[in-house]
Amino acid sequence: MSQENSCCRVCSRGLYSCHWRDSSSNKRKQARCWFSVVSLASLLSLCWMYICLVTFNDREDVNWQGFTKLKRWVNWFMVVIIISAVLTSYCILLLLFALFQVALGERLDLHWLHKIFLFFGVIFVAFGITGISLQWQQEWPTVPLSLQATAPFLQFGAVGALTLLSSFVFHGFDRAKTAGSKALIASAFVVVSAAIFLCPLFIQSPCLIAPSDLPDKPKLIGHRGAPMLAPENTMMSFDRSIACGVTAFETDVQLSKDRIPFLMHDSGSDFLMRTTNVKEKFPDKRFSHSANLTWEELQRLNAGEWFLKTDPFRSVSQLTEEEKETAKNQSIPSLLQLLVLAQQRNISVIFDLYSPNQEGDTNDTVSTILDSGIDPSLILWLPPAERDTVILTAPGFIQVYKSETKMFDKGGNHLNVKYSNLSTEKIRELRRKNVTVNLWVVNDRWLFSLLWCAGVSSVTTNSCHQFQAMEHPDWVMAHGRYNTIWIIVDALSCLIMTGLYICQRKTHRLCHRRERQSNNTSAWNEKELSPFLPTG
Ligand SMILES: *[C@@H]1O[C@H](CO)[C@@H](O)[C@H](O)[C@H]1NC(C)=O
Ligand SMILES: *[C@@H]1O[C@H](CO)[C@@H](O)[C@H](O)[C@H]1NC(C)=O
Ligand SMILES: *[C@@H]1O[C@H](CO)[C@@H](O)[C@H](O)[C@H]1NC(C)=O
Ligand SMILES: *[C@@H]1O[C@H](CO)[C@@H](O)[C@H](O)[C@H]1NC(C)=O
Repeated sequence: MSQENSCCRVCSRGLYSCHWRDSSSNKRKQARCWFSVVSLASLLSLCWMYICLVTFNDREDVNWQGFTKLKRWVNWFMVVIIISAVLTSYCILLLLFALFQVALGERLDLHWLHKIFLFFGVIFVAFGITGISLQWQQEWPTVPLSLQATAPFLQFGAVGALTLLSSFVFHGFDRAKTAGSKALIASAFVVVSAAIFLCPLFIQSPCLIAPSDLPDKPKLIGHRGAPMLAPENTMMSFDRSIACGVTAFETDVQLSKDRIPFLMHDSGSDFLMRTTNVKEKFPDKRFSHSANLTWEELQRLNAGEWFLKTDPFRSVSQLTEEEKETAKNQSIPSLLQLLVLAQQRNISVIFDLYSPNQEGDTNDTVSTILDSGIDPSLILWLPPAERDTVILTAPGFIQVYKSETKMFDKGGNHLNVKYSNLSTEKIRELRRKNVTVNLWVVNDRWLFSLLWCAGVSSVTTNSCHQFQAMEHPDWVMAHGRYNTIWIIVDALSCLIMTGLYICQRKTHRLCHRRERQSNNTSAWNEKELSPFLPTG
């Protein structure tokens, strides 16, 4: 802190407060207040970024919701992620500059432009959180679930940050004038440190097990095929999912006017709009019903061009030219086509039935399956509506349930639920009872790893090609080993902080002596040395 206007000093001052020259008006209190705002905004934006990253697994939900409302495909989730990333980097940089200012002994006036940006940032995050709470409530359980995968690393990060920031706290402590404020700083610091140091005592994760106890890798079920590698619910998509070793095809069935079961997810007012060129082929008609078109008419639609145009998973660039040509030429497949492929490859089929006419559609679907000659034990029957009839007409099908109580009532042993609806303890309990547990839709590595550790039987996924390549979960650690690691990390941090504190006291005393000797109080004392200084 020698030169009054060294380069980095001016730089930091300019970027944070836009005071290129050192003015000396006294607004310390306000400046300190804004420093707290910057810190809180950084923390808030980090938390928000974390939420965005862990809900990335379900980005398709958001984009699909957007489509059903606006009838236009936009990658909304990516837009939110990019804005959030910019906002988070901005807040963190601002905080770093603030700390830099403190370290340089500069004043902490925040420029008004930063105040406005911060205000918009906070509003954006508030909107995001309200949006999730109102429109996407079922997503909240993903956040605590993700902590089972990330908490050990977040704790190491927090210990690191605490160690780095401790010198600023010690600085504030030394310069505090009254015993009361010293006690306040010390007790706040001790409480926060204790919480950070000891939280591993409360961390639970299915991956804290001996590597030898790791269950088998979950089997993969292709969600509408391999929708990142080919347009969903097309024969190309199912072909590509075979290449990633899936044990079952997941799909969606509806019936045409002439009672042919075909594969299409969207129904109601969105029917055919997202994944086909229905607007081009039938410009003046609006179909809201699978029985609006005959099988012959459905086959005239293209079910692949949309994939290349909208690139829903930002994965089209990974396709070869030949694959792009094939994708461009896909039509809507019938259920029969899929059954033939499944029988050839000995792969199971599980599907939802989007049916406005439960009884008739169920009967026609079951007879299509029985007539196809497929081994009935390859059919995982999921639609609950006419289950009792199906059990009578097709006793060979495997019955899969969406709720645990229903399953036990009917004496079944196959369960298919959303990944966040079962706790890891519950998964283990069900597996001990020999229940086959399939969870949907699992797309990100951290989630797959966690469920692997928990021991699920299979997952429905968009990312079969990524999971196929995984040989281990992202991490598995014996409990004892984790305890050793976090205790060592905590101890190291304590040592470093003690060292920093001793250094701090020494320089502090040295400064005091010099000040007294030179009797020149103007250069140092007027300056803002610490935002942690109590106001008194
Ligand atoms: C589609 O089917 C529904 C229900 O049967 C009917 O009300 C509607 O008019 C049909 N739309 C077209 C374009 O045929
Ligand atoms: C693509 O479709 C067109 C007609 O829609 C057909 O003439 C052509 O043979 C198809 N190409 C391939 C590679 O299937
Ligand atoms: C089909 O796969 C199952 C296991 O997934 C296996 O038990 C069975 O023997 C296979 N059948 C044929 C005909 O390969
Ligand atoms: C689960 O299956 C295993 C082997 O198939 C068997 O030994 C065990 O008794 C079964 N457990 C229950 C609760 O049925």
